[in-house]
Amino acid sequence: MARRVALVTGGTGGIGTAICRELTRQGCLVIANYLPELEQEARAWQKQQLAEGVEVEIEPGDVSSFEGARGMVEAVQTRIGPVDILVNCAGITQDKTLRKMTEQQWRDVLSTNLDSVFNVTRHVIEGMIERGFGRVVNISSVNGQKGQFGQCNYASAKAGIHGFSMSLAQEVATKGVTVNSVSPGYVSTAMTLAMPEEVRDAIVAQVPMGRMGTPEEVAYVVGFLCDTRAEYITGANIPVNGGLYMS
Ligand code: CAA
Repeated sequence: MARRVALVTGGTGGIGTAICRELTRQGCLVIANYLPELEQEARAWQKQQLAEGVEVEIEPGDVSSFEGARGMVEAVQTRIGPVDILVNCAGITQDKTLRKMTEQQWRDVLSTNLDSVFNVTRHVIEGMIERGFGRVVNISSVNGQKGQFGQCNYASAKAGIHGFSMSLAQEVATKGVTVNSVSPGYVSTAMTLAMPEEVRDAIVAQVPMGRMGTPEEVAYVVGFLCDTRAEYITGANIPVNGGLYMS
């Protein structure tokens, strides 16, 4: 069987990197998408992966824009081939209480975190249906399930992501394409490192496991959902949160 092609948006980020490494380990040909203005950083990242024995392709593209996503997907398809696996992992935070949140902070988070899922998936789904195989995994968040002080924008986007997963899962269920969400809790990455330390410590104190998660723990679940044998799992939301939220 030809190597499956996996596109990971936000692939050079904390969780994205671990996902790229996991899917490469599973034998996929992985493309990490990154923001065009971070070209230098992405090249350095790719070099670092290679130095550690992980071969990953990179592709620029602003996934918050429909046209940016289209150009990125087309470039991948021309240069590498049709996308079999899509992991929508691009995401940002702009934490503020609603009273202080600007329209820009709302729009930036919604367009990067939620619009991006539509923008990229829209351009790969037809091909997956035609080929009778596809895996879409959307990275949501525990805070999309339970809400979070200071995250009206982020929690809305992350909850919306799972609504998208469940809807698309129904549309493509008979086509060999599965669509699922993975909802990480607080994971050690630059995103959580940017939080005020005392706020982070207070949240970790509420995690039943008493610690933050690792990017690898999230990537393991993404890899599991992308496996051909996971074909009967669709429209699911799998939490990886140390017990912070149970449902
Ligand atoms: N619960 C209750 N009250 C709180 C509070 C909390 N968690 N945090 C702050 N407050 C209170 C403050 O003490 C303050 O009270 P007073 O007005 O009486 O002084 C009031 O709320 C307003 O606080 P601020 O003026 O500081 O509010 P702000 O708009 O500047 O924002 C914040 C504060 C930046 C949102 C801060 O609360 C924060 O960082 N919260 C954590 C948000 C968070 O969890 N982010 C996760 C990032 S990682 C991630 O998102 C990954 C993932 O998927 C899990």
